[in-house]
Amino acid sequence: MSLLEASEIVSGYGDIEILHGVSLSVGRGEMVAVIGPNGCGKSTLMKTIFGLLTPTGGRVTFKDTDITGMPPHEIVCQGLSYVPQADNTFLSLTVQENLAMGAFLRPDIYAVQAEMAYGLFPDLKARRNAKVSSLSGGQRQMVAMARALMLEPQLLLLDEPTAGLAPVFVEAVFAQIAHVNSQGIAVLMVEQNARLALEHAQRGYVLASGENRFTGESSALLANEEVARLYLGGAA
Ligand SMILES: Nc1ncnc2c1ncn2[C@@H]1O[C@H](COP(=O)(O)OP(=O)(O)O)[C@@H](O)[C@H]1O
Ligand SMILES: [Mg+2]
Repeated sequence: MSLLEASEIVSGYGDIEILHGVSLSVGRGEMVAVIGPNGCGKSTLMKTIFGLLTPTGGRVTFKDTDITGMPPHEIVCQGLSYVPQADNTFLSLTVQENLAMGAFLRPDIYAVQAEMAYGLFPDLKARRNAKVSSLSGGQRQMVAMARALMLEPQLLLLDEPTAGLAPVFVEAVFAQIAHVNSQGIAVLMVEQNARLALEHAQRGYVLASGENRFTGESSALLANEEVARLYLGGAA
Protein backbone atom coordinates (compact mmCIF):
# COMPACT_ATOMS: atom_id res chain seq x y z
CA MET A 1 0.00 0.00 0.00
CA SER A 2 1.32 3.44 -0.93
CA LEU A 3 2.22 6.04 1.66
CA LEU A 4 0.99 8.86 -0.58
CA GLU A 5 -1.48 8.46 -3.38
CA ALA A 6 -2.56 11.40 -5.54
CA SER A 7 -5.12 10.34 -8.11
CA GLU A 8 -6.47 12.26 -11.08
CA ILE A 9 -5.65 15.65 -9.54
CA VAL A 10 -7.27 18.65 -11.22
CA SER A 11 -5.96 21.91 -9.80
CA GLY A 12 -4.92 25.45 -10.65
CA TYR A 13 -5.43 29.09 -9.78
CA GLY A 14 -8.91 30.55 -9.91
CA ASP A 15 -10.37 29.73 -13.30
CA ILE A 16 -7.01 28.67 -14.72
CA GLU A 17 -6.70 24.89 -14.70
CA ILE A 18 -3.04 23.84 -14.58
CA LEU A 19 -3.20 20.14 -13.66
CA HIS A 20 -5.62 18.14 -15.80
CA GLY A 21 -5.80 14.85 -13.91
CA VAL A 22 -2.30 14.05 -12.61
CA SER A 23 -1.65 10.87 -10.62
CA LEU A 24 1.35 9.75 -8.61
CA SER A 25 2.21 7.59 -5.64
CA VAL A 26 5.06 7.28 -3.15
CA GLY A 27 5.74 4.11 -1.18
CA ARG A 28 7.01 3.98 2.39
CA GLY A 29 10.67 4.97 2.51
CA GLU A 30 10.81 5.53 -1.23
CA MET A 31 12.55 8.40 -3.06
CA VAL A 32 10.60 9.63 -6.09
CA ALA A 33 11.45 12.43 -8.53
CA VAL A 34 9.06 14.64 -10.50
CA ILE A 35 10.60 16.26 -13.55
CA GLY A 36 9.30 18.20 -16.53
CA PRO A 37 9.66 21.53 -18.31
CA ASN A 38 9.33 24.89 -16.62
CA GLY A 39 5.71 25.79 -16.04
CA CYS A 40 4.31 22.27 -16.53
CA GLY A 41 2.75 22.28 -13.06
CA LYS A 42 5.30 20.61 -10.77
CA SER A 43 5.07 23.23 -8.01
CA THR A 44 1.30 23.36 -8.42
CA LEU A 45 1.19 19.61 -7.78
CA MET A 46 3.30 19.94 -4.63
CA LYS A 47 1.16 22.82 -3.34
CA THR A 48 -1.99 20.81 -4.01
CA ILE A 49 -0.68 17.72 -2.20
CA PHE A 50 0.27 19.88 0.81
CA GLY A 51 -3.12 21.59 0.96
CA LEU A 52 -2.03 25.07 -0.12
CA LEU A 53 -4.31 24.66 -3.14
CA THR A 54 -7.59 22.76 -3.09
CA PRO A 55 -8.05 20.51 -6.11
CA THR A 56 -11.26 20.80 -8.10
CA GLY A 57 -10.99 17.11 -8.97
CA GLY A 58 -9.22 14.00 -7.76
CA ARG A 59 -8.11 12.78 -4.38
CA VAL A 60 -5.01 12.83 -2.17
CA THR A 61 -4.60 10.09 0.42
CA PHE A 62 -1.77 9.82 2.93
CA LYS A 63 -1.43 6.71 5.10
CA ASP A 64 -4.93 5.75 3.97
CA THR A 65 -6.39 9.03 5.26
CA ASP A 66 -8.13 11.26 2.74
CA ILE A 67 -6.28 14.59 3.08
CA THR A 68 -7.90 16.26 0.06
CA GLY A 69 -8.82 19.80 1.07
CA MET A 70 -7.21 19.46 4.51
CA PRO A 71 -5.29 22.62 5.51
CA PRO A 72 -1.46 22.47 5.66
CA HIS A 73 -1.24 22.78 9.46
CA GLU A 74 -3.31 19.62 9.79
CA ILE A 75 -1.48 17.80 7.00
CA VAL A 76 1.89 18.47 8.63
CA CYS A 77 0.60 16.81 11.82
CA GLN A 78 -0.26 13.70 9.77
CA GLY A 79 3.45 13.27 9.00
CA LEU A 80 3.86 15.05 5.67
CA SER A 81 6.26 18.02 5.46
CA TYR A 82 6.95 20.45 2.64
CA VAL A 83 9.92 22.59 1.66
CA PRO A 84 8.86 25.28 -0.85
CA GLN A 85 10.86 26.20 -3.93
CA ALA A 86 12.02 29.62 -2.71
CA ASP A 87 12.12 31.71 0.46
CA ASN A 88 12.08 28.56 2.57
CA THR A 89 14.02 29.82 5.61
CA PHE A 90 13.81 32.73 8.04
CA LEU A 91 16.94 34.61 6.98
CA SER A 92 17.06 37.00 9.94
CA LEU A 93 16.78 34.17 12.47
CA THR A 94 19.53 31.81 13.59
CA VAL A 95 19.72 28.17 12.52
CA GLN A 96 18.47 27.13 15.95
CA GLU A 97 15.55 29.57 15.79
CA ASN A 98 14.59 28.21 12.37
CA LEU A 99 14.44 24.71 13.84
CA ALA A 100 12.32 26.01 16.72
CA MET A 101 9.90 27.51 14.17
CA GLY A 102 9.67 24.08 12.55
CA ALA A 103 8.53 22.53 15.84
CA PHE A 104 6.26 25.28 17.10
CA LEU A 105 3.24 22.97 16.79
CA ARG A 106 5.03 20.37 18.98
CA PRO A 107 7.23 22.08 21.61
CA ASP A 108 7.26 18.76 23.51
CA ILE A 109 9.42 17.09 20.85
CA TYR A 110 11.59 20.11 19.97
CA ALA A 111 14.71 19.09 21.92
CA VAL A 112 14.78 15.50 20.67
CA GLN A 113 14.08 16.52 17.08
CA ALA A 114 16.70 19.28 17.12
CA GLU A 115 19.33 16.74 18.21
CA MET A 116 18.16 14.43 15.40
CA ALA A 117 18.44 17.29 12.88
CA TYR A 118 21.92 18.25 14.06
CA GLY A 119 22.91 14.59 13.84
CA LEU A 120 21.77 14.51 10.21
CA PHE A 121 23.39 17.86 9.37
CA PRO A 122 26.55 18.30 11.49
CA ASP A 123 27.45 21.48 9.57
CA LEU A 124 24.33 23.09 11.01
CA LYS A 125 25.22 22.15 14.57
CA ALA A 126 28.48 24.07 14.20
CA ARG A 127 26.55 27.09 12.91
CA ARG A 128 23.53 26.80 15.21
CA ASN A 129 23.83 30.38 16.48
CA ALA A 130 24.58 31.92 13.08
CA LYS A 131 21.92 33.87 11.22
CA VAL A 132 20.74 31.97 8.17
CA SER A 133 21.52 35.05 6.05
CA SER A 134 25.22 34.37 6.71
CA LEU A 135 25.08 30.78 5.38
CA SER A 136 25.83 29.46 1.88
CA GLY A 137 22.99 28.45 -0.45
CA GLY A 138 23.67 24.77 0.21
CA GLN A 139 23.60 25.30 3.98
CA ARG A 140 20.35 27.26 3.73
CA GLN A 141 18.79 24.33 1.91
CA MET A 142 19.91 22.09 4.78
CA VAL A 143 18.23 24.48 7.24
CA ALA A 144 15.02 24.29 5.20
CA MET A 145 15.13 20.49 5.20
CA ALA A 146 16.03 20.31 8.90
CA ARG A 147 13.12 22.61 9.75
CA ALA A 148 10.77 20.41 7.73
CA LEU A 149 12.02 17.33 9.60
CA MET A 150 11.22 18.77 13.04
CA LEU A 151 7.74 17.22 13.19
CA GLU A 152 8.96 13.66 12.45
CA PRO A 153 7.51 13.37 8.94
CA GLN A 154 7.29 10.05 7.11
CA LEU A 155 7.30 11.93 3.81
CA LEU A 156 9.20 15.04 2.81
CA LEU A 157 8.10 17.08 -0.22
CA LEU A 158 11.03 19.02 -1.71
CA ASP A 159 10.38 21.60 -4.43
CA GLU A 160 13.58 22.29 -6.40
CA PRO A 161 16.04 21.71 -3.55
CA THR A 162 19.03 22.51 -5.76
CA ALA A 163 17.57 25.54 -7.60
CA GLY A 164 19.95 28.46 -7.74
CA LEU A 165 22.81 26.58 -6.10
CA ALA A 166 26.37 26.71 -7.38
CA PRO A 167 27.24 23.36 -9.05
CA VAL A 168 29.60 22.48 -6.22
CA PHE A 169 26.66 22.50 -3.75
CA VAL A 170 24.23 20.60 -5.97
CA GLU A 171 25.85 17.21 -5.43
CA ALA A 172 26.17 17.95 -1.69
CA VAL A 173 22.46 18.67 -1.38
CA PHE A 174 21.58 15.48 -3.27
CA ALA A 175 23.85 13.56 -0.88
CA GLN A 176 22.04 15.13 2.10
CA ILE A 177 18.68 14.18 0.63
CA ALA A 178 19.89 10.60 0.13
CA HIS A 179 21.09 10.61 3.76
CA VAL A 180 17.66 11.76 4.99
CA ASN A 181 16.01 9.08 2.83
CA SER A 182 18.36 6.43 4.28
CA GLN A 183 16.78 7.13 7.69
CA GLY A 184 13.53 5.69 6.33
CA ILE A 185 11.94 9.03 5.46
CA ALA A 186 10.26 8.94 2.05
CA VAL A 187 11.09 11.82 -0.32
CA LEU A 188 9.09 13.28 -3.19
CA MET A 189 11.23 15.86 -4.97
CA VAL A 190 10.67 18.17 -7.89
CA GLU A 191 13.89 18.90 -9.76
CA GLN A 192 15.27 20.89 -12.68
CA ASN A 193 18.47 18.84 -12.44
CA ALA A 194 16.43 16.04 -13.96
CA ARG A 195 19.21 13.58 -14.72
CA LEU A 196 20.79 13.88 -11.26
CA ALA A 197 17.37 13.62 -9.62
CA LEU A 198 16.61 10.37 -11.48
CA GLU A 199 20.06 9.04 -10.63
CA HIS A 200 19.21 9.45 -6.93
CA ALA A 201 15.53 8.46 -6.98
CA GLN A 202 14.11 4.96 -7.35
CA ARG A 203 11.20 6.08 -9.54
CA GLY A 204 10.26 9.11 -11.53
CA TYR A 205 7.36 10.94 -13.09
CA VAL A 206 7.69 13.18 -16.13
CA LEU A 207 4.97 15.82 -16.30
CA ALA A 208 4.19 17.85 -19.42
CA SER A 209 1.48 20.51 -19.77
CA GLY A 210 -0.24 19.49 -16.57
CA GLU A 211 -0.46 15.79 -17.43
CA ASN A 212 1.48 12.60 -16.73
CA ARG A 213 3.81 12.01 -19.68
CA PHE A 214 6.14 9.18 -18.55
CA THR A 215 6.27 7.11 -15.34
CA GLY A 216 8.68 4.41 -14.34
CA GLU A 217 11.78 3.17 -12.59
CA SER A 218 14.48 5.83 -12.78
CA SER A 219 16.81 3.49 -14.66
CA ALA A 220 14.14 2.93 -17.33
CA LEU A 221 13.46 6.67 -17.68
CA LEU A 222 17.18 7.42 -17.95
CA ALA A 223 17.49 4.77 -20.68
CA ASN A 224 14.41 5.98 -22.60
CA GLU A 225 15.51 7.79 -25.78
CA GLU A 226 12.48 10.08 -25.90
CA VAL A 227 12.74 11.05 -22.22
CA ALA A 228 16.46 11.70 -22.65
CA ARG A 229 16.00 13.79 -25.79
CA LEU A 230 13.03 15.83 -24.59
CA TYR A 231 13.58 16.14 -20.86
CA LEU A 232 17.18 15.29 -19.98
CA GLY A 233 18.93 17.45 -22.55
CA GLY A 234 20.58 14.72 -24.59
CA ALA A 235 21.02 11.11 -25.60
CA ALA A 236 20.26 8.26 -23.19
N1 LIG B 1 -0.04 31.93 -8.09
C1 LIG B 1 -0.30 31.70 -9.40
N2 LIG B 1 -1.33 32.29 -10.02
C2 LIG B 1 -1.61 32.04 -11.33
N3 LIG B 1 -0.89 31.22 -12.11
C3 LIG B 1 0.18 30.60 -11.53
C4 LIG B 1 0.52 30.81 -10.16
N4 LIG B 1 1.61 30.05 -9.88
C5 LIG B 1 1.92 29.41 -11.03
N5 LIG B 1 1.07 29.73 -12.01
C6 LIG B 1 1.08 29.21 -13.39
O1 LIG B 1 0.85 27.81 -13.34
C7 LIG B 1 1.65 27.14 -14.32
C8 LIG B 1 2.45 26.05 -13.65
O2 LIG B 1 3.32 26.65 -12.71
P1 LIG B 1 4.21 25.79 -11.74
O3 LIG B 1 3.37 24.75 -11.11
O4 LIG B 1 4.91 26.75 -10.86
O5 LIG B 1 5.22 25.10 -12.78
P2 LIG B 1 6.63 24.38 -12.54
O6 LIG B 1 6.83 24.26 -11.05
O7 LIG B 1 6.50 23.06 -13.23
O8 LIG B 1 7.66 25.23 -13.19
C9 LIG B 1 2.49 28.22 -15.00
O9 LIG B 1 1.86 28.55 -16.21
C10 LIG B 1 2.45 29.37 -14.03
O10 LIG B 1 2.55 30.59 -14.71
MG1 LIG C 1 8.25 25.02 -9.76
